Amino acid sequence: MSGVTQLLSQAFCQALCSDIKIGEHPDGNVWMVHANLLPLQVAAKIILSTKRCPLISPNRPDGHIEFSLVPYALPDRFKKDVCEQKEVPSSLFWQAIESKKSHYVEQHNVDFEGKTLGKSTEEFKNEMIERCDQINPLLLELVEHIPKGLAIDLGCGRGAHSFYLLSKEWKVMAMDFSPKSQELVTQELTNEKEEAKSRFTFIQGDITTMEFPEKQVDLIVCQDVLPYISPKKLKSLMAKIHHALMPQGRFVGTFFFQPQEDVKHIVPFMERAAGAHFYPEEYLGQALLTHTGFELEEGVVRQTSGFPRSCFQFVARKI
Ligand SMILES: C[S@@+](CC[C@H](N)C(=O)[O-])C[C@H]1O[C@@H](n2cnc3c(N)ncnc32)[C@H](O)[C@@H]1O
Repeated sequence: MSGVTQLLSQAFCQALCSDIKIGEHPDGNVWMVHANLLPLQVAAKIILSTKRCPLISPNRPDGHIEFSLVPYALPDRFKKDVCEQKEVPSSLFWQAIESKKSHYVEQHNVDFEGKTLGKSTEEFKNEMIERCDQINPLLLELVEHIPKGLAIDLGCGRGAHSFYLLSKEWKVMAMDFSPKSQELVTQELTNEKEEAKSRFTFIQGDITTMEFPEKQVDLIVCQDVLPYISPKKLKSLMAKIHHALMPQGRFVGTFFFQPQEDVKHIVPFMERAAGAHFYPEEYLGQALLTHTGFELEEGVVRQTSGFPRSCFQFVARKI
């Protein structure tokens, strides 16, 4: 039995579909399943465990269902019923996330579509931090409706969200590993009154390894940062975020997914030059939250400014 066939069998067994036999197609490219019916959840498990999208041919005269080896992507009909509803076991979901490859490479001259930009990777990233001055509109709305408390701004960049929260009388801990971020935040802090300064802390460090306060935080902002985290570290970072929040605490942020055709060309560049990860489908952003123990309060898909990209913006609540 090949590895993929074994995974398919496991997926079916987990779904308690006893009357299903899986055979390997002679051309090695198509798996056939003998079943009259393919329940959605089972199909989803297969997709996630094999990273293949089943192109199902339900009308075969012999009653088999075919799976062809199309690279991992979920057809529309699977999205809603599958990951959003936690119907896929968490282990398979995280396996799918972790399988995402990183393409980041340090460069002396960053190139975009064959043209050298004349910048090192570090310069490029620093410029990106300088340009990060947009506040997530969902946060603006949320802050009007919840009591102020302690907020953490993870990967704060130049501190746009931190200083906004400070102006709304929140206590703010800003974290970022970039020296450029520290420089910009320190500079901006000089414009604040002493009282506001006393409510603010900046910690320079890697958010995947540093410790967060436990069960004390009312709000965590992580705007345009999760996509830069190594897929292998996302699960533990998400768990840490969840653990840091008080019950009912809010988590606000973004997740990137493959954009529409017209701006698709930017993806390989952003993955290589900035270490961004664009996940195959937008529903994964939502699934990331539910598989960590959050409930999605609001989720919108926006084309954000700066680099054209499709972005899932969310507000989630710890349950
Ligand atoms: C695109 S910027 C977003 C800045 C800010 N959140 C905003 O929206 O204005 C990404 C930021 O995440 C920071 N970052 C990425 N990975 C990090 C990590 N593992 N630990 C700490 N900071 C990180 C980068 O240094 C950068 O400042």
